[in-house]
Amino acid sequence: MTRLPKELKLNYRSICDQKQRFHRLIGFAAVLAVGCGFASNAMADDAKTIAATVCMACHGEDGNSAIPMFPKIAGLQESYIVKQLRDFQTGRRKSDIMAPVVAALKQEDMVPLAVYYSSLKLKPGTEGDKKAAAFGKMVFFEGNEESGVPACVGCHLPGGVGYQIYPKIGGQHTTYVAQQLKNFASGERSNDVSRFMRVVAKRMTEEEIQSVAEYLVGLDSK
Ligand code: HEC
Ligand code: HEC
Repeated sequence: MTRLPKELKLNYRSICDQKQRFHRLIGFAAVLAVGCGFASNAMADDAKTIAATVCMACHGEDGNSAIPMFPKIAGLQESYIVKQLRDFQTGRRKSDIMAPVVAALKQEDMVPLAVYYSSLKLKPGTEGDKKAAAFGKMVFFEGNEESGVPACVGCHLPGGVGYQIYPKIGGQHTTYVAQQLKNFASGERSNDVSRFMRVVAKRMTEEEIQSVAEYLVGLDSK
């Protein structure tokens, strides 16, 4: 398992504390009152600093990771990003890589990071094998009646653009998507509300998983 390089273990609080000390010095009581967190420009700057010094190493400069195992996080819903960060921190979603990254992150730091990444555009990749992608498209829109796989489109919407608790999956890396589906199927990933994805993925064949992933990567989910 990949270990987190030492230089990435940034102390998030130190950035926040420095900002607070600065505001205290210049008498910004109002900023202190809301704490180091919500809706302040300072916090948005801090989020960008964290993104550029920590997250970028794996998720890319603009949230479009170049590494197929690491998810693109640009353009994902704010609420989804916050939920995932919280789930990694509490261990509800297991990842040896993300756990140490979020260990020192406060909940109020998560929101500006989510706002920032959500504002970026997820760039699609290139559809994989054409035949597989065509089959994947069928799975996406129709599911598999025989085995009880529901159509993905019902929750993730056309283009895989996502909606409320249903994340954007259009344009996401094939390798990452296939791995997450396998993780849901085995129960390794179990942070889905109402077991939605565990139920879906468990019913999918290896071919359905790979094909739907090859279809999704080519979608421009904006
Ligand atoms: C050392 C590499 C690394 C660093 C640094 C890193 N991540 Fe991640 N991140 C990953 C990996 C790998 C996953 C997928 C984990 C899994 O297998 O479920 C992930 C998953 C995520 C997810 C869930 C995405 C999804 O589609 O469900 C979010 C959100 C996220 N990271 C945000 C961040 C933020 C914000 C930072 C900076 C504070 C960060 N990451 C730093 C490697 C990294
Ligand atoms: C009943 C609604 C529902 C259906 C149907 C559904 N999903 Fe999901 N899916 C969800 C929810 C909810 C999540 C977010 C889980 C969480 O909070 O971590 C999710 C998450 C995912 C993820 C992880 C995204 C990420 O960035 O880590 C993938 C991949 C995914 N779904 C693919 C699919 C595919 C492929 C299908 C069709 C075969 C499908 N889903 C059908 C509700 C659904």
